[in-house]
Amino acid sequence: MESETGCQLPGMDKGDGVSDMGGQISIYLKNLEETRLFGCELGKLALPGDVICLDGDLGAGKTTLTQAIAQGLQVPDSEYVTSPSFAVLHQYPGRIPLYHMDFYRLHDAAEILDLGLDEYFSLSGLTVIEWPIRAAGILPAHRLDLTLENPGDDSRIIRCTCPPEWEARLAVLFSQHPGLLPASTPEH
Ligand SMILES: Nc1ncnc2c1ncn2[C@@H]1O[C@H](COP(=O)(O)OP(=O)(O)O)[C@@H](O)[C@H]1O
Ligand SMILES: [Mg+2]
Repeated sequence: MESETGCQLPGMDKGDGVSDMGGQISIYLKNLEETRLFGCELGKLALPGDVICLDGDLGAGKTTLTQAIAQGLQVPDSEYVTSPSFAVLHQYPGRIPLYHMDFYRLHDAAEILDLGLDEYFSLSGLTVIEWPIRAAGILPAHRLDLTLENPGDDSRIIRCTCPPEWEARLAVLFSQHPGLLPASTPEH
């Protein structure tokens, strides 16, 4: 299937449950377990040099999703992934290294450049960034952007903007777990 938007899934198009607007897919996670499943699958699919940006309010689930990504990357349980808010960066060993960054306490891209943190946008591990808005303008183009929304219960909606690098991988993920797509959103 042609992929003009950068995120069309093979064999699926509008009407099959995929919100496809300019390379965007909306994912519906009905509970914490589904967030863990999605994160774990992302971790399994991650390749050296990948960057995943996690946008969303406090409590949206960015760190929780990162913990699941770490599990998929085979980060040992003894290296429990916590919020790096105070340290800005935590590094974990796994199938490939996980660099977990949280820019909440930083101001802007100039500060991130001053601290040399942009170095982590192009390493041979997976870099996961919370509060990527602080690095607006200096983030790499090949990043996977995920915006987490908390409707106020244990479900989450993730708006995903994916570059070509993630297209085929996400297609595999959704073909294996079709229930994560919005078609499964309950009627209100
Ligand atoms: N489906 C879900 N996905 C992610 N977190 C959830 C979900 N349901 C409940 N939660 C809870 O919401 C909180 C999210 O916190 P956290 O991951 O630290 O958010 P953030 O890093 O975005 O500030 C955690 O206490 C988590 O257990
Ligand atoms: Mg957090």
